Amino acid sequence: MCGIVGYLGKRNSLLILLEGLKRLEYRGYDSCGVVLSNNEEIYLYKKVGKVSELEKEVKNKNLDGNIGLGHTRWATHGGITENNAHPHYDCSQNIFLIHNGIIENYQELKEKLKKKNHNFYSETDSEVFAHLIEEYYKNNDFENSVLKALKEIRGNFAFVIFNKKEKDKLIGARFSSPLILGLGKEEYILASDPSPISLITKNVVYLDDGDMVVVDKNKGVKIFSFLNEKEKPLVIYQINWQIDDIKKENYEHYMIKEIEEEPKAVFNTFYKRLNFERLETNLKELNEIKEKLRNIEKIVLTACGTAYYACLYGRYLFEEYLNLNSEAEIASELRYRNYPYNEKTLLIVISQSGETIDTLEALKIAKKRNVLIIGIINVPGSSITRLVDKVIYTQAGPELAVASTKAFLAQITSLVILMIYLAEIKGINLKNKKQIFEEIKIIPEKIKEIINRKEEIKKLAEDLICFKNFYFLGRKFQYPIALEGALKLKEIAYLHSEAYPAGETKHGPIALIDENFPVFILAPKDSVYEKTISNLEEIKARKGKIILISDEAFEKADYVFKIPKSLEIFYPFLTVVPLHLFAYYFAKILGREIDRPRNLAKSVTVE
Ligand code: F6R
Repeated sequence: MCGIVGYLGKRNSLLILLEGLKRLEYRGYDSCGVVLSNNEEIYLYKKVGKVSELEKEVKNKNLDGNIGLGHTRWATHGGITENNAHPHYDCSQNIFLIHNGIIENYQELKEKLKKKNHNFYSETDSEVFAHLIEEYYKNNDFENSVLKALKEIRGNFAFVIFNKKEKDKLIGARFSSPLILGLGKEEYILASDPSPISLITKNVVYLDDGDMVVVDKNKGVKIFSFLNEKEKPLVIYQINWQIDDIKKENYEHYMIKEIEEEPKAVFNTFYKRLNFERLETNLKELNEIKEKLRNIEKIVLTACGTAYYACLYGRYLFEEYLNLNSEAEIASELRYRNYPYNEKTLLIVISQSGETIDTLEALKIAKKRNVLIIGIINVPGSSITRLVDKVIYTQAGPELAVASTKAFLAQITSLVILMIYLAEIKGINLKNKKQIFEEIKIIPEKIKEIINRKEEIKKLAEDLICFKNFYFLGRKFQYPIALEGALKLKEIAYLHSEAYPAGETKHGPIALIDENFPVFILAPKDSVYEKTISNLEEIKARKGKIILISDEAFEKADYVFKIPKSLEIFYPFLTVVPLHLFAYYFAKILGREIDRPRNLAKSVTVE
């Protein structure tokens, strides 16, 4: 995790670094720091806490420097202290660097360097790299010393480095952690994602694993692989994120802004990809693999957290409509299994960030075995998009709150489109194709209707605020939504909440039920409605407090939140919205740090 940003150019780097760090804060926010330099001085400031604290400290100090580095940390090696915060430096205080990732062999390297009289001030793996460069810098060749040091480390990393003695130069390198180069007019920026880059330019170069980039004010940019030392051409892309997408506007939190953007995320994901007159898909991005897709006989979906729940939804969908053997697997488990892929398997990886290390590793294993892979990804140019065979980009726009909301809606929208596409190319007659097209068209409006009733959910959260435990139950398509409701409450309200397939409660979980145990039951009028209602009865018989989310009223529930009628596969688009709102308001009443919940980070790039 951790967010990194480095700048070299003609402006005062401090302002860009601070604004960039605020945009990267979702990646980690336990401590932060900046270093900048003008011709004379080096200014280094670190702070435990948020970027706003650091900003307060440096704001009135008239710091100036055309080169600088900034870092926001999610601690891995070493506690949350100023010493462990980045930027880190060597003994001579010439080499300064920021790091995202883990150097796995840092202990061994540290011991060697100690024997060569290097003194360490922190407990981090990152500091070791500064000393390693220093060790090789004895020959005064900065570029070469970084190259040699890179060859000695193992793990995953993105670095940006500068050297006090060569202040016209910034060096970046990456392996398994993201790093993007922004090319402005006589200015350069290196960052973990496009959001700080959009401060100065739309022109970006996505670095690949094994890339090292040297940015020189006078000589321009050079990219080469530190693995084979071959130079690479600069491939420049344009980022299309708008600055307004990243602003909080008048919202108190990004999370509520992003929940309110759920209808737009669904609409933007489907509208160019469906032809409503011809009842056809338009998934141009899959054209090149159409033939291979026609022959697949099994689908494996993999991801982590909320994106994994989208996979579960996909499994029900593909089984039901395509009659295809489908499985949803948690990526951190899949990667250690000897999974029986074959030439007729399609792997679908789902990720908002496109950087989640477990998902990335699971896909690398499948790739080595020549499995056909499609990514359903939100962040353009992210690491996963560069490894899969084809990408279906979800059009949720930047998601900055740590808890994922609108991206989930965009993911399940993409799965519906992919399901229709697979039916088309495999010649499967979809049972209710016309209704599917009609319903998806109006689903954003139905979501909006629910959001417009957010005060009802707020009131529900107020009424339930004294409870400390919650169950979320659902069957079939509603089971992934139950999991999503429970995870959101855990993540941002720090509450004990668990989800079960509704039919499973009587095999154990029901033992906990009494009048102090509220249970959310997701029971829209779908194919398993009556079965779920029987489970509701069982809970009620044991005095459980029931919150029913359904398009049907039911007098035995203590509270009913009515949703509009829909098709079975689209009910999840509706039942998930009140659960997102509930977690938001519950956490808000408890005064939690909603956008930056404790112990979490948005982009999980450590194992
Ligand atoms: C939950 C949440 C996480 C992510 C998970 C995967 O609200 O945000 O569970 O869904 O870490 O992240 P991505 O989708 O970026 O791979």
